[in-house]
Amino acid sequence: MYETSVGSLVFKNPVLTASGTFGMGESFADFYDYSLLGGVVLKTLTPQPREGNPPPRLYETPAGLLNSIGLENEGFDAFERRIKENNPFVSWGTHVIVSIAGDDEGDFALLSQRASRIREIAALELNLSCPNVHAGGMTFDARSEHVYRIVASVRERVEIPVFVKLSPQHDMVANAREAERAGAHAVTISNTFLGMAIDSQKRSFVFAKKFAGFSGPAVKPLALANVYRVAQAVSIPVVASGGIASGEDAAEFLLAGARLLEIGTMAFVKPRLVVEVVEFLEKYSQGGRIIPLQ
Ligand code: SIN
Repeated sequence: MYETSVGSLVFKNPVLTASGTFGMGESFADFYDYSLLGGVVLKTLTPQPREGNPPPRLYETPAGLLNSIGLENEGFDAFERRIKENNPFVSWGTHVIVSIAGDDEGDFALLSQRASRIREIAALELNLSCPNVHAGGMTFDARSEHVYRIVASVRERVEIPVFVKLSPQHDMVANAREAERAGAHAVTISNTFLGMAIDSQKRSFVFAKKFAGFSGPAVKPLALANVYRVAQAVSIPVVASGGIASGEDAAEFLLAGARLLEIGTMAFVKPRLVVEVVEFLEKYSQGGRIIPLQ
């Protein structure tokens, strides 16, 4: 087993699902046993339910995917009720990481406190970087002082590990340093890249919000460079997310300095990809550690 850790949390292997692409866990159970993974990251929850953005919400490109989901989710109250009535996490046999977002620092503080009271939640991922909610694709981490304030107020309230998911639109090295200074246990590099689709026939934007988040194999070289830069700049673990489509891709991110990996877009094409990556890394590591390149 290629075991790894973040803070005191030990992961049986470095492979996680990426938030958003895994829903609340209902979609992939027919394809593989969740206990084979290091962990799963659920779709971002907000204090109130959100309907998300109007369609269309997805647009494929030759090697990637644009999404404008708009953080559709049931809201934290409904989630908590559902978990109390019938908690599926107990049987999953893997770490469950809850992704949260809100409108301000207070929402992050409140949700993190509530989530940390649910025993089966192993860690939190603060989504400071969804480009599909605010006008112009603006994200919370546009200003480093917001990163610091949000992370610090969450860390005052919770003991479980806190991952901070950043946007590649902003200075990720500066933001990762602020997250570390505020007490984050890990930074997730990164959320989607700001993209756009235009319909030339209709002479209009494809998405109602004009901009969308771009992910998939096309972004891998960009994500690899960002993971390397951030891993060189901070001491906390980097969780890599960006276009992993094979075991070799996953190994490249570990060589670039990542501690954990999140796999998302390509799981839509190949749902068992996560399991294939676990198996590949097992062989590739030959029972030892994969030493990052300098
Ligand atoms: C979305 O729901 O719009 C995507 C999630 C994200 O980019 O954080």
